[in-house]
Amino acid sequence: MASRRRLVVVSNRLPVRRVRRGGSTAWEQSPGGLVTALAPILKSARGAWIGWAGGSGRAPAPFTLEGVRYTPVSLSRGQLEDFYEGFSNRTLWPLYHDAVRAPEFRRRWWWPYVDVNRKYAEAAAATAKRGDLVWVHDYHLQLVPAMLRELRPDVRIAFFLHIPFPPDELFAHMPWRSQIIEGLLGADLIGFQTPTGVRHFMATARRVAGVHGSRGTLSTGGRHVRVGAYPISIDLAAFDRLARAPETAARLHRLRVRLGRDRRVILGVDRLDYSKGIDARLKAVAELLTSGRATPADTVFVQVAVPSRESVKEYAELREEVERLVGRINGEFGEPGLAPVHYLHRGLPQAELVSHYLAADVMLVTPFRDGMNLVAKEYVACRTDDTGALVLSEFAGAAHELKAALMVNPHDVDGLAAGIDAALHMPHAEGARRMRSLRRAVRHNTVFDWADEYLGAAWS
Ligand code: ADP
Ligand code: F6P
Repeated sequence: MASRRRLVVVSNRLPVRRVRRGGSTAWEQSPGGLVTALAPILKSARGAWIGWAGGSGRAPAPFTLEGVRYTPVSLSRGQLEDFYEGFSNRTLWPLYHDAVRAPEFRRRWWWPYVDVNRKYAEAAAATAKRGDLVWVHDYHLQLVPAMLRELRPDVRIAFFLHIPFPPDELFAHMPWRSQIIEGLLGADLIGFQTPTGVRHFMATARRVAGVHGSRGTLSTGGRHVRVGAYPISIDLAAFDRLARAPETAARLHRLRVRLGRDRRVILGVDRLDYSKGIDARLKAVAELLTSGRATPADTVFVQVAVPSRESVKEYAELREEVERLVGRINGEFGEPGLAPVHYLHRGLPQAELVSHYLAADVMLVTPFRDGMNLVAKEYVACRTDDTGALVLSEFAGAAHELKAALMVNPHDVDGLAAGIDAALHMPHAEGARRMRSLRRAVRHNTVFDWADEYLGAAWS
């Protein structure tokens, strides 16, 4: 990155967690591609990161970790309920994910959303210096760009949406649609994961805010706002390294022995979120077992589901549904010592995750809608010997890049079962050809390329 100007990142959560060390607690960087890519830039540009550090009540004091200055923002219990669980995760999240659950438009959640956005905008305004770039992330903070522009017209403002932007007709349901679009248009650059997101946003902005423009630029209030697609990615080298590590080979061996060396392994790894299509995937596995195309003796399905947003009703209901399906399949098709489905309701440490990717003959990434889906890219990054098959939903942002995957429509359970069956029986040469092509696609765009391209555009 050529520029020496400072970068200030603003996101709902800070990429840090508190851990116990000896008798006291300390901050530690959470694992994740975004922070891995941005931390070196922030460090060399003396940058800062503003966000929530978890919990409610008074925010912890600002601190420096590995050369990056972190400023926690406080959220009250009420703000967590109305801004985070309510407007962010029961209104925006389902609306932006094709309304796979009905979005709730509650007036009492709107003002807390405005208030919390103002709090983040004020924190950014207090931190940024003249000429700095302030990079605002994701759906929780869509009003921050315009609020910050009011407070600090002397900084550059960029926004990136990590989740999909919905079609115009769907976004039109939002009672506060003009405020959200005006909020976003406060940025100099608005980034989306895919060209589809760009197209949807441009159509909505023209209709809702009456702005003009084409080919990636909108004009509003005498300013130009650039709009573009910047598909996020992963730290390829880190996954490649872990996949080749001798400890991983030992871990993989243990895992394969435990799962049954002669069985084909199908894997799903997700946050336990209703957008991920875990239920449809289980129904497709049940279909394979019912039709005899798979048996518990020759195939095992492992679903690792990390708990997520557990206080939100729809997430608690999904957990019940997934656990009911797992119980039904194991009850119906299992035999003593031979369960067709292994379900882990927890996150795995990265080294374990990589050995699971390596154990999987078939990886199922079947969201009903997903901004990108990094799990798909992580799986591909780990398959250093070109083995393995990726079954990928055509509704994941990753489908734009990972064209050599076996594409499926997750709403079509029979089609999904057929896709898994095809992956299980794919001729070796075809599998290797597809995996080589997938690996080329991931190599072509790592999270470092993503950050470089986005920041290059934002700073130019
Ligand atoms: P989302 O951002 O919606 O959660 P992504 O697939 O883009 O979905 O990113 C999820 C990230 O969380 C990936 O880096 C993945 O490795 C990690 N992850 C998801 N599920 C698990 C799990 N069960 N255990 C460990 N890590 C997980
Ligand atoms: O992909 C969207 C996203 O909000 C990520 O930014 C975040 O890491 C993930 O979902 C988990 O969400 P939450 O912060 O609500 O636990």
